[in-house]
Order: sequence, then C-alpha cells, then structure tokens
Amino acid sequence: MIDLIAKYNREIDSFSIQTSEDLLNFRNKYLSKKGLLSSLFNDFKNVTNDKQLIGKQLNELKKKITERYEFFKCQLSESEHEFHFDLTLPPVQYSVGSRHPVSIVRKEIIQVFSRLGFTVYEGPEIEDDWHVFSGLNFPPEHPARDMQDTFFIEKDPDILLRTHTSPVQVRAMETEKLPIRMVFPGRVFRNESISARAHCIFHQIEGLYIDKNVSFADLKQTLIFFVREFFGDQTNIRFRPSFFPFTEPSAELDVSCTICNGSGCNVCKYTGYLEILGCGMVDPNVLDSSSIDSKIYTGFAFGMGIERIAMLKYQINDLRLYFENDIRFLSRFKSAL
Ligand code: PHE
Repeated sequence: MIDLIAKYNREIDSFSIQTSEDLLNFRNKYLSKKGLLSSLFNDFKNVTNDKQLIGKQLNELKKKITERYEFFKCQLSESEHEFHFDLTLPPVQYSVGSRHPVSIVRKEIIQVFSRLGFTVYEGPEIEDDWHVFSGLNFPPEHPARDMQDTFFIEKDPDILLRTHTSPVQVRAMETEKLPIRMVFPGRVFRNESISARAHCIFHQIEGLYIDKNVSFADLKQTLIFFVREFFGDQTNIRFRPSFFPFTEPSAELDVSCTICNGSGCNVCKYTGYLEILGCGMVDPNVLDSSSIDSKIYTGFAFGMGIERIAMLKYQINDLRLYFENDIRFLSRFKSAL
C-alpha cells in the first residue's frame, strides 16, 4: 500500500490539464466515489501493519489531491477568461472630469485682463475689520458691518469672513510697488439665506489699477474691452452712477441682455440690460490710508461676481447649482482651459 501511495503521489505531481475535460478526468480518477482515493481508504480498513504511518500518508495524499484539484480549477478558469477576451472590442471609455463653471469663467476673465497687463494677486478669506471695512472708507455705522450681512469669527468682532474681494486691494496697496495693475479672484461670504438668487458663499474677481494720471476714461476703456472680449463685439454697454464707500465717482456697468440681445425678456426684466459689475475711481481716502499719495496717484477699481457672469454665459438660473456638485450639472461644462 505504501508503494501505491508513492505511485499516486508521483502521478499527481506530473499531472497537468489543458481543458475542462482533463479536469473532469482528474476528479473522476482520484476524487469520485469510485475513484482511487476512496478505494485506498477502503483498503485501509484491512491494513494491520504500520497502520499509523499509512493512515498519515493517506491523509497527506488526500490533501494533495484536493489542493491540486482546486489549483487546476483556477488555472482553467483563468485560461478560459483569456480565451473569452475579445481583443477587437473597443476599449471601455473612462469619462474624464470637467472643470467647474466658476473655474472656467474665472480663468477666462483673468485671461482677458492679463492681455491688458493685469497680474493675479490673492488674499486671505479670513480677514480683519481694517482690510474689509475701515481701510476701504466704510463708516462705522455702515450696514454691511452688521451681523446680518457679515460672518464674524466667534467672540472677536475684529475677525471676519471677507464679504467682498476689495480687502485684497488694500493688501496690494500696502505691500506692492506702484504702479499696481492687478486682479484679485476669490471666495467671499455673506450672511444670506440660500435661495436661487442668493448664496452665503460665492466668488468675486476684483481689479485695481493705480498709477499717475489714471482717469475715468481708462476705467471705461478697460471695462469696454473686457465686455467685448468676454461677451462678444456686439454687446452694448451702459454705465449707471452708483455708490461704494471706497470709490468716487462710482458706477455700475450693465451689458445688453445675453438672452434677448436687448429686446426685452424675463431674464432682464424687460429692460434689455443686465448688471454685471461695480466700479469707480479709488477714493483718495483709501489711497491715503494705504500710504499712497493721492495727490500724485489715482486709480480705478472694479469688482464682479463670477457666478453671476457664469449665469449669463451659460444661462444658469439657480445659484445653488454651483455648490451642489451634482455630476449631471457639472458634466455639461466642457472647456479647453
Ligand atoms: N466690492 C464691491 C461689491 O462687493 C464691488 C466693487 C469693487 C465696486 C470695486 C467698486 C469697485 O459689491
């Protein structure tokens, strides 16, 4: 019996399979009810000498055969897989992510201004009162300083989330060499309840140009260039007088409605125009408080909401869509940028 076990051991070592038929034969030969293994176990009942040794060898043989069988099974299923691999099929398409519309529009705006020599400068989102309000000529009782509009960092009324990107102007004026010709993109925060038309987080891009002899004509020309580049040659522009504590004179800029081209629709509320930004000549108080001599230097500033520009460009009528990150919304935006 010992010889027989040794013989089967050798046989099994040299056994190999190619097809599922070979696998079946292997199983029938060794593992089935009438197979060699069960007949060995039957014979074992009659063994009298060396019973312990033979029993051990038999169990080892059984283990080996079952392991081999499992191994052959895996081998076969792998090779069958290879066999079923259709190399002529087109590859699975991996979908590439797309840029967020706010990122696309921010980049496009920056590109237009960079052609006029503006560089990008960024500031912190958590600011102090000086940069957001006082340094920008906001009087102490100005409503924007109210808790209802501004998120203050707990306990310290001096530390707050910036409500606009204008504090970055102040930082640039404090640290950069003149002339300054910069744009400041960034996130801003306002204490608003969230709806289709308002959100507590949004993005702005601000521009600042300070040099000798900068005039309102330069401001108009720069913004007209931007509008025509961004919205197209045919776009009409309208400046309306306005007020900001940090600019004097101040204006708001409207462009002819991107939906109805100025003929009147419900997006422009039948006025033919849409407001896109605020602007003005930097107030001499603001220059002086940043140690820039307002008798020598003048400047202009402008600021716009990026979501608002994206809304007009892509006709998105709900601000909340920008923050929900719904893949069905995001995948609509394809950009080479
Ligand atoms: N900071 C202003 C706002 O948030 C926009 C603005 C910027 C107006 C620069 C004038 C000049 O509404």
